[in-house]
Amino acid sequence: MSFLDQIDNIKLPQHIAIIMDGNGRWAKQKGKLRVFGHQNGVKAVREALEGCVQANIKYLTLYAFSAENWNRPKLEVVALMELLVSSLKKEIKTFQENGVRLNAIGDISKLPTNAQKKLQETIEATKDNTTCTLTLALSYSSRQEMVDAARTLAAKVKAGEINAEDINDDMFSANLYTRNIPDPDLLIRTSGELRISNFLLWQIAYSELCFLDKMWPEFTKEDLFQSIVEYQQRERRFGKTSEQL
Ligand code: FPP
Repeated sequence: MSFLDQIDNIKLPQHIAIIMDGNGRWAKQKGKLRVFGHQNGVKAVREALEGCVQANIKYLTLYAFSAENWNRPKLEVVALMELLVSSLKKEIKTFQENGVRLNAIGDISKLPTNAQKKLQETIEATKDNTTCTLTLALSYSSRQEMVDAARTLAAKVKAGEINAEDINDDMFSANLYTRNIPDPDLLIRTSGELRISNFLLWQIAYSELCFLDKMWPEFTKEDLFQSIVEYQQRERRFGKTSEQL
């Protein structure tokens, strides 16, 4: 039986975010180059997206490339950027067929021109799709995102558009890259590492966290469904007591 059948459709997480970790280690274990891990990681991306469409999850956000990842060997960075471009070229048809809208967060201006172009093209071509929003975090740093928000708000105060005292949670959220998407309900990280690694620090304040021992290339739809079932078994109290819920 599939874990899909155990999912309660009334308590679905609206937004799932994933830290896709372990591509390099998976490849090394097989005596292959790290790039082989990333190539197989793309298959797992497809699994995650298909799983979200099947389970009716409205938002999927994937940590595809962190701001810190620019420090990896040049060859690996180039291979990752090429994989991004070739995957977008290949997947556009599937996006359209499944109603997937593409979105990107992070310092996109740092990406090679062809990657920026392919990204913008795909975002534009899928902008009217409504089944699932796939957000790719690319050249992303959560701390930088918050610093940017602080700068924007400071500039508005300076220009007399807002008062410093009026800045609150909602206004801060509205100035993050994620302003148009709800906070994740569930965050999944693969590879057994128990870290957040500068991903959506503000947005995961109340997210349920699910850490899987599997390496990312081994991730399947069933893992996604099982994580959703686990999420549904937890009690989200948002600081309240069980009795108050
Ligand atoms: C983490 O594994 C994975 C990444 C840094 C890149 C993720 C990229 C992909 C799955 C492919 C391209 C993406 C898209 C959206 C088409 P790691 O290299 O950090 O593994 P390690 O921790 O074992 O070294």
